[in-house]
Amino acid sequence: MTDANPAKTFLITGASTGIGAATARAAAAAGYRVVLAARSADKLAALVEELGGADKALAVTCDVQDLGQQRAMVDAALATFKRIDAVLANAGLGSTAAGVEGGDPDNWREMILTNIYGVALTAKLCLPELRRTRGHILLLGSRAGRRIAKGSVYGATKWAVTGLGYNLTEELVGTGVRSTLIEPGMVDTPFFDNPVTGALAAEDIANAVMYAVSQPAHVDVSEILVRPVAR
Ligand SMILES: NC(=O)c1ccc[n+]([C@@H]2O[C@H](COP(=O)([O-])OP(=O)(O)OC[C@H]3O[C@@H](n4cnc5c(N)ncnc54)[C@H](OP(=O)(O)O)[C@@H]3O)[C@@H](O)[C@H]2O)c1
Repeated sequence: MTDANPAKTFLITGASTGIGAATARAAAAAGYRVVLAARSADKLAALVEELGGADKALAVTCDVQDLGQQRAMVDAALATFKRIDAVLANAGLGSTAAGVEGGDPDNWREMILTNIYGVALTAKLCLPELRRTRGHILLLGSRAGRRIAKGSVYGATKWAVTGLGYNLTEELVGTGVRSTLIEPGMVDTPFFDNPVTGALAAEDIANAVMYAVSQPAHVDVSEILVRPVAR
């Protein structure tokens, strides 16, 4: 591949573990260069090695709550791979305590700044390049963003992601940029402190992401809800 015609590039936030790492593996297997962003530099470095080294993958240490770090992430992606074709805004975290009355306000701030503000920043900063490539933006929402869950502030952050996804789809009409909201039910990842039974695997969600991005250019898969059978 020459610089005049570089390979397609997939940027993933929250790529150090779970759904993000599984999607990075699937995207690399499909031929994408991958940009892996998260805070855990050691895990990202190991994943870069696993995926074939610096020609195939780029690790960017980034806290998605920070506008400057997200700008630097996009700049590094473009400096290294010359283009961005697909973006999965996936970095997120859950509740440390249940309910509104019993919830922890510090944890709420972290969730709001990561799950909502961080996702919106990723979309904002990547859209100019995605317009250029007529690329694809995917937001990692949740089934929790479509159902009522007693007292869940985490669920409320995912309702916000659902709203952002729907509104972004409208904003992108006429641009050629496609957008997809991915809404998993329970997935067995480090999101949970202990393994969960009857859940989806991270690879199941990666499959949904790759389905959306591999459709013909005229097909816009707006939303994918994926639930375990044993829900
Ligand atoms: N597991 C489920 O049941 C489930 C269901 C529906 C939706 N989701 C959503 O799926 C997404 C991925 O979760 P997962 O299940 O794969 O859990 P996970 O394994 O804990 O992955 C979360 C990822 O987000 C990154 N991250 C967290 N805070 C960050 C920050 N401030 N800046 C940059 N990266 C940050 C983490 O990396 P570092 O710690 O290295 O930064 C990690 O790579 C989340 O948005 C989650 O809400 C999960």
